[in-house]
Amino acid sequence: MKLIGIARAHTNIALIKYWGKRNKELFLPMNSSLSLTLDAFYTDTKVTFDDALTEDSFLLNGEAQAVEETNKIAKFLDLFRQQMPEYYYAKVESLNFVPTAAGLASSASAFAALAGACNLASGLNLPIDELSTYARRGSGSSTRSLFGGFVEWDMGSDSDASSSRAHFIDDASWDIGMVIIVVNNQKKTVSSRLGMEQTVATSPFYPAWVETAKTDLAQMKQAIQAKDFKTLGEITETNGMKMHATMLGANPPICYFEPESILAQQQVRQLRELGIPAYMTMDAGPNVKVLCRASDMPRIKGELSKVFDESRLITSLPGEGVISLSEADWEA
Ligand code: DP6
Repeated sequence: MKLIGIARAHTNIALIKYWGKRNKELFLPMNSSLSLTLDAFYTDTKVTFDDALTEDSFLLNGEAQAVEETNKIAKFLDLFRQQMPEYYYAKVESLNFVPTAAGLASSASAFAALAGACNLASGLNLPIDELSTYARRGSGSSTRSLFGGFVEWDMGSDSDASSSRAHFIDDASWDIGMVIIVVNNQKKTVSSRLGMEQTVATSPFYPAWVETAKTDLAQMKQAIQAKDFKTLGEITETNGMKMHATMLGANPPICYFEPESILAQQQVRQLRELGIPAYMTMDAGPNVKVLCRASDMPRIKGELSKVFDESRLITSLPGEGVISLSEADWEA
């Protein structure tokens, strides 16, 4: 017997960052975060629970993955299998749709698509906010990719794992876009998982991060409600920079900036000097993401291409939440 589910999820970029866990096993964050889902990058995943299988397998873009990767997936599948009447091994097939050389292959879209596919294949059909408590257990940021547009991931209370979930805030259809400046497409040297752990354990700035992330979030939610782009952008930039400052204070220090990241940051400031509202944010890697008006993206690309090759500039509009796909969509 085969139980099949196929889902697509897009990646998301945090505007209020998630950095630090209060519970590693349950992926409970130290602070609530807020993101924008992007339409340019997504993952399609097919899960087949099959009673004829004798082990789990995981294929990414057609290639069988190593034991370590497969084990991560198997552990995630178990969250669903624990709720199923019978235990079936599974074949998991994923296709990452990320523009070539973007260096943005993201665990957010990966685990959101996997959660969506498991939800269908297992027959559990959990409501999406409850599903977000499962997606979180693959990778924290993936919990936000279940929804489109602006999304909040509520940190929840204490050790109550079910209260930490994502919810939709706004579809971001008010002239919002993002330009990604690809500085380096290599795999990051310090994973976000390790980076946040070291920061929580050693950075003297960490308590200030947690404290100010709260006010940043409250103010950003107001800005979104008021469709106040300038305030949204300013908080995005200060919050992202504060996260990196917190890491620089860790022991040993963690620095994701490369020389070209700084160059990109200068260019974003220059865009503002030209009168174009544009604000930067960076994650656990050297690439710079520019939050802007969608209608300004052609001009921004034109300005940035004076410094960066056009192949390193990727534009994206806001994306939608997780969707289910048919076998016909998958074959195509
Ligand atoms: C800087 O979600 O990749 O992108 O939960 O350990 O898998 P794990 O970490 P991950 O961390 C994302 C960190 C970030 C900020 C964010 O997306 O909020």
